[in-house]
Amino acid sequence: MFALTARRRLALYCTTTVTSPSPALNSLRQTATITTSAESPATEPKPATVEHGTNGKRSRPLTREQEQFLDSALRVNQTGELAAVLIYSAQTPPIVKAHPHLRPLMKHMYDQEAGHFTYFNHIIAKHRIRPTAMYPIWQVAATALGWSTAVMGREAAMACTEAVETEIGEHYNAQVRELLAWIKDMEDRGEEVGEELTELVRRIRTIRDEELEHLDHAVEHDAKEAKPYELLTGVIRGGCRAAIWLSEKV
Ligand SMILES: [Fe+2]
Ligand SMILES: [Fe+2]
Repeated sequence: MFALTARRRLALYCTTTVTSPSPALNSLRQTATITTSAESPATEPKPATVEHGTNGKRSRPLTREQEQFLDSALRVNQTGELAAVLIYSAQTPPIVKAHPHLRPLMKHMYDQEAGHFTYFNHIIAKHRIRPTAMYPIWQVAATALGWSTAVMGREAAMACTEAVETEIGEHYNAQVRELLAWIKDMEDRGEEVGEELTELVRRIRTIRDEELEHLDHAVEHDAKEAKPYELLTGVIRGGCRAAIWLSEKV
């Protein structure tokens, strides 16, 4: 695991005050329940700190388990966004050649993935989190996946997007739930939450929503007409889960 210093982590995530819990805590206690990754984003709790910002004064460190969670999660996010960029890069030429009207959609999704990749590159560099050792493997695999599904046709390319975004959407949902639970615990203890943590949650939520938008685009463009749909999406989703699992560890 990458050894981010305790002081750096501390500045990243939590500031503490000695005052009593904020007035917003009571409403937070009533609403903070998320149970499944498939849950609609609209049901997420809205901790006061995430919704309204923070005015904390003093820092305290994350636990070792929280540090490890962030190392793994942000490493996976960065390599996942690299893979997304490469998938769309490989898909775009064959798809646009056969279906020129899809050029704006492909560019839109590519541009959003490039933005996600830039953000997570910035975050892992800032906090000195090492990229996964699997990085070169995923580069080859993502390009091969993008190109091969595009050659199979528009429906297969969209089925690829549907499968990938389903997995990555659940992956981001799990992170949002975990980070919101941290924030709730901090607020329950009467601590103010650091701006960097609240900003991280906001950004992951926004990115998650864009991934789910891609999923909707894929379904709207006949992803489920791909043949063989079940086999194709099953293999791709299994591959995504394996890649996430491996990238968390190495
Ligand atoms: Fe993305
Ligand atoms: Fe995406």
